Amino acid sequence: MGWRYLKTMLNVALPKGRLGEKVYAMFEKAGFECPAIKENNRKLIFENEEVGVRYFWVKPSDVAIYVERGAADIGVAGKDILLEYAPDVYELLDLDIGKCRMAVAAKRGFRDDKQKTLRVATKFGKIASNYYNSIGRDIDIIHLNGSIEIAPILNLSDVIVDIVETGTTLKENNLEVIETIVPISARLIANKSSFKFKNELIEKIINDITSQTEAKK
Ligand code: PRP
Repeated sequence: MGWRYLKTMLNVALPKGRLGEKVYAMFEKAGFECPAIKENNRKLIFENEEVGVRYFWVKPSDVAIYVERGAADIGVAGKDILLEYAPDVYELLDLDIGKCRMAVAAKRGFRDDKQKTLRVATKFGKIASNYYNSIGRDIDIIHLNGSIEIAPILNLSDVIVDIVETGTTLKENNLEVIETIVPISARLIANKSSFKFKNELIEKIINDITSQTEAKK
């Protein structure tokens, strides 16, 4: 009876959606292909044992949790998530994709009455608090889970702190950006112990993807 050498598998958490497809294309180019992932089905885990890689599609905001707890060795998460949840992971690389910004927006013509506590609707409570702390403005955070743009329209809040990509959502809801807090893009992250124990594999990915992003510039 034969036995075979068990290859070290690299577990990669990809953000489900268009960004994740771009990320997969980068990994594929780096030599970590997994053709099955392109089949049109609803499976969430794909592996290519020959190459030694296993991909999972997870909700973009969950990638950092999988990586922090070691269910994935590496993954790709937005800087927004890394700032908001400060997961205990290594941030290895700016992938220069998924670019957008975290901004404060309000109804067109909004004037801030500095005598009053500012009501801020957001999914990003920590980013919002840190920002308003830094400028010494008192706020009341209203945590929402989506469709944040509705809040100022219904007078649930004065402003929102949210992601702006093309600006279309704001425009179509008669809102405008007041201030950009921080630019956002997708980052390659690693579990801290995986980075140590699967270092060669991870370094190979870093090097290859770095040259891909450099070539694009
Ligand atoms: C994000 C964000 C805005 C929109 C901005 O929402 O919250 O609503 O994208 O993009 P735009 O500037 O190109 O219009 P997302 O689609 O991630 O969903 P969400 O409502 O769950 O936040």
